[in-house]
Parts: sequence; structure tokens; C-alpha cells
Amino acid sequence: MTQNPSSHGEIGHAKAVKEMFSGIAGRYDSLNHLLSLNIDKNWRRRVRRELADVLERPEAVVLDVACGTGDLSIELQQNASATVVGTDFCRPMLAVAATKSDGLARRIPLIEADGMNLPSASESFDAVTIAFGLRNFANWSNGLVELHRILKPGGRLLVLEFSAPVLPGFRQLFKFYFSYILPRIGGMVSGSRGAYEYLPDSVSRFPDQRGLADLMRKVGFSDVTYRNLTGGIAAIHVGVK
Ligand SMILES: C[S@@+](CC[C@H](N)C(=O)[O-])C[C@H]1O[C@@H](n2cnc3c(N)ncnc32)[C@H](O)[C@@H]1O
Repeated sequence: MTQNPSSHGEIGHAKAVKEMFSGIAGRYDSLNHLLSLNIDKNWRRRVRRELADVLERPEAVVLDVACGTGDLSIELQQNASATVVGTDFCRPMLAVAATKSDGLARRIPLIEADGMNLPSASESFDAVTIAFGLRNFANWSNGLVELHRILKPGGRLLVLEFSAPVLPGFRQLFKFYFSYILPRIGGMVSGSRGAYEYLPDSVSRFPDQRGLADLMRKVGFSDVTYRNLTGGIAAIHVGVK
């Protein structure tokens, strides 16, 4: 896929995002770890720690939306008593997740669905997570409304997403890496330069820490907080229904 999903309407955007991830599904994990120098693993671990109290409850159900190849779902399931379910609308990404999930002691149910229109009853989940997924939705507010709908009252949403580095010098350095180096390496290894040009482009259009917190409040989340990761390259936002 060479076109930028952001240049389409909402339906076209979803289709283009799905095609883009279908094209890189086989290389997605190795590139993630290479391009982030494995720091992405720490970030997912932080999400698990934030949710520790829910994950230790045997009756709790946690939905990992836009789970892709399943790395966060698997991380959440480590030593968890709760049930973790993964969902994504891109079948080839889920196919990779299934190969990993098959090898686990407790298989993670994987559901093919659009995160903006989930086949779940309202108030079904004790917690919902979404890692590097919301930014790719065609409409962030409507996506957040949908994630709010499926949470039980008192349930928590955790959003792990790229954000805005907080230190000025580091911000410039990171921007250079993210905008010039990463698309070249990502393009060479995956064969899809477009996907790795879309990444910095989509991050630059996505709200920063405060902007995302405001958006979450606007759609009805309360007690919204965020924690910067690696100097603000990424952040975990938490909101309560
Ligand atoms: C960057 S990957 C993140 C995957 C995984 N959460 C992780 O941490 O590696 C983004 C994922 O979001 C999925 N996605 C994007 N928009 C979606 C939507 N509207 N509904 C469901 N999944 C979506 C893509 O298919 C892709 O698998």
C-alpha cells in the first residue's frame, strides 16, 4: 500500500489501514522490536502493571482492542487470573497472534471485529486496552465512545500510544529518527515504505498527552490520568467509566 490512509474518507481510511497492516503482518513484530530497540516490550509490561488489580480477579474479563499480532494480549495474560480476549479487524495480524496464542497454556480468544463497532453488549468488560491502535481509527472520538460503551461502570480504559517527547533536545532528535531513519529501515525490511511513512505522519496528527486526556474526558471518561514513557515518546492514558 503506497497511499496514506489519512487521505481517504472514514470508510476508505479503515479499508486502507486494514490493507496496510495485512501487507506488513508477517514482519510487524520483528520490525517493532528492531525499530524500538525492544523498548516496546517494556511499554506493554507497564500496561500490565497498571492493570494488575483487575488481572488478578478470576471473574474479570479484559478486552485488548486492535490487538494486532497479540503482544499486549499475551503480556496481559501472563500470570493473570482474569480472562483476556483480543480483537482486531485485520485477519492476517490475527493469524500471527493465533500462532503465538496456540502455544500458550491458556489460549487467548481472538475475535475479528472493527474496534469502532464491536460485537459486544454494552457494559461487558472490566477493562479495555488499546495499544498503538486508537491513532489508526478513522475517528478517534467515535472510537473512544465505543470503548466507553463496552466497559462496565467503574471499568478502566488504558490507551498505550505514541505521544510527544517532553524534552526539547530529545524531541528534535527523536523527530529526526522517527521521520527520516525509521521510514527507510521500515520500508527496506517490510517492503512497504508507505506503512512506515504513515507511522510518523499519523503520530504527528494524533493529539499529544493533554489533547488525548481532554478527548477522553469529552466522551465521558472520568479520573483521566497519563504517564509518560521513555521521555514522552509514548504514554499510557487511563480513564474510568
Ligand atoms: C500498530 S498495530 C498495534 C498492534 C498491537 N496492539 C501492538 O501493540 O503491537 C495497530 C493495529 O490496529 C488495528 N486496527 C486499526 N484500526 C482498527 C479498527 N478500526 N478496528 C480494529 N482494529 C484496528 C490494525 O489492524 C493493527 O493490527
